Amino acid sequence: MKKEYIFKSERLGFRNWNETDLTEFSKLNADMKVMEHFPKPLTKNQTAKLIQRFKNHYEKNGHTYFATDILESGELIGFIGLAFQDYKTDFTPAVDIGWRLKKSSWGNGFATEGAKKCLEFAFNQLKINYVISTCTEKNYKSENIMKKIGMEKIGEFDHPELNEYPEYKKCVCYGINKNVWQQNL
Ligand SMILES: CC(C)(COP(=O)(O)OP(=O)(O)OC[C@H]1O[C@@H](n2cnc3c(N)ncnc32)[C@H](O)[C@@H]1OP(=O)(O)O)[C@@H](O)C(=O)NCCC(=O)NCCS
Repeated sequence: MKKEYIFKSERLGFRNWNETDLTEFSKLNADMKVMEHFPKPLTKNQTAKLIQRFKNHYEKNGHTYFATDILESGELIGFIGLAFQDYKTDFTPAVDIGWRLKKSSWGNGFATEGAKKCLEFAFNQLKINYVISTCTEKNYKSENIMKKIGMEKIGEFDHPELNEYPEYKKCVCYGINKNVWQQNL
């Protein structure tokens, strides 16, 4: 089936979500290894609600945590994308860049390739001026992507929505503005 992409990188296609993504995305969200840095894996029902939230976010804002496919095979590998975050901290509200990929796709540079393209989309197409990214302090793989795409560390913070989960509460935040991004090209 030919898929419609909002934009593409060399190996990946970025699109809005649809109901046929539920089975694959549920598997990924139920995988304990993928969800190691989150309080709990997701049930199928929670994944269905998440897909709906991502779809609604795209309709409203023109961006979301995009469904991300390998172009060559059409395989859905997870999400890479942008979403508005307004939990209460010194650096929010802001547009966040984030990623979650199925384990079999790790180690191919997909997250970094996709994140670079999403930043380009944010700055050039959406005319967003500043993008943040956050992860728990032990999620080194994720923090490494932030560094590789040129983001700078803003600091550490206690995530206000993770009060019930002390082991996930300590997080790091990175940011990048359009000028710095352009200078790094
Ligand atoms: C974090 C996550 C997205 C990383 O995915 P990934 O695609 O493996 O990440 P990267 O793009 O950094 O690629 C990893 C490695 O692939 C290697 N690689 C192989 N082929 C490559 C290529 N063609 N181009 C670039 N890198 C390549 C690189 O060596 C890179 O390692 P490096 O850090 O030494 O440069 C993934 O582990 C994940 O989904 N984790 C669970 C969810 C999660 O925690 N999300 C973040 C929550 S805040």
